[in-house]
Amino acid sequence: MTASPLAGPLLRAENLTMRFGGITAVKQVALTVNPGEIVGLIGPNGAGKTTCFNMLTGFYTPTEGRVFFRGTDITSHKPHAIARLGLIRSFQKTNVMKRLTVFENVLTGHYMAGRQSLLATFFPGATVRRAEREARESASAIVETMGLSRRMNAPASLLSCGELRLLEVAVALAAKPTLLMLDEPAAGLNSHEAGVFGETLKTLVGTAVQSLLIVEHNMELVMGVCDRIVVLNFGQMLAEGEPRAILSNPKVAEAYLGKAAA
Ligand SMILES: Nc1ncnc2c1ncn2[C@@H]1O[C@H](COP(=O)(O)OP(=O)(O)OP(=O)(O)O)[C@@H](O)[C@H]1O
Ligand SMILES: [Mg+2]
Repeated sequence: MTASPLAGPLLRAENLTMRFGGITAVKQVALTVNPGEIVGLIGPNGAGKTTCFNMLTGFYTPTEGRVFFRGTDITSHKPHAIARLGLIRSFQKTNVMKRLTVFENVLTGHYMAGRQSLLATFFPGATVRRAEREARESASAIVETMGLSRRMNAPASLLSCGELRLLEVAVALAAKPTLLMLDEPAAGLNSHEAGVFGETLKTLVGTAVQSLLIVEHNMELVMGVCDRIVVLNFGQMLAEGEPRAILSNPKVAEAYLGKAAA
């Protein structure tokens, strides 16, 4: 008989391929994320990382290949249906509203995830008030988890770059992901801020989320937090392994240096 869908990998993609007209942006990529893992997806600009995210989360239908989340084939599912299953992604663009406070941004994330509005529709009165209270409690717990308690009531416009990046993750957490996929979550951070950010991400696994899949150009961060790394180059898998093996892989160095020298 078939094994329990919860026993295997959380996310599994096979033969992921995306063609735009004559351009093959992603070719035959295989990717798995197991429960409890932080997986990095790296590669030079234009390697196909965001295109992979778009295929994994239903924003693009792959030209070829399949995506399974907790054993369910989600290849042709719509993005909102995939999000409801617990596969949540961030975008390269910010999801923070600058005029709202830190707390309000995270609370808004709960409503965006569509949980409270549905409840409010079907259960008026006391149940709605309880749902509202639970949303507020959950939002403040997330703010605390991300280390932003001191900034709870500060407008997002006053945050430092490091705090803003933490808030972006907090807003994504409000959707209650099982697997959270982050696309360049540490963009623009200095070394100290990236260190704080990385340590905070590590605390999320096994508590706020089961696993993380991260696209990131900051190598120090990637090497510091990831259990396993997949390297893309020109849309294809170049290497996969533990951070140390990836760091010492000459093909990986060449892909990055080749790009820099171009
Ligand atoms: N909608 C699209 N139509 C046509 N080409 C696209 C589309 N989306 C992406 N591409 C192309 O696919 C390739 C991969 O792009 P993608 O954005 O996935 O790269 P990336 O690895 O995320 O790069 P970066 O690190 O710069 O964010 C690029 O050549 C890009 O121009
Ligand atoms: Mg990208």
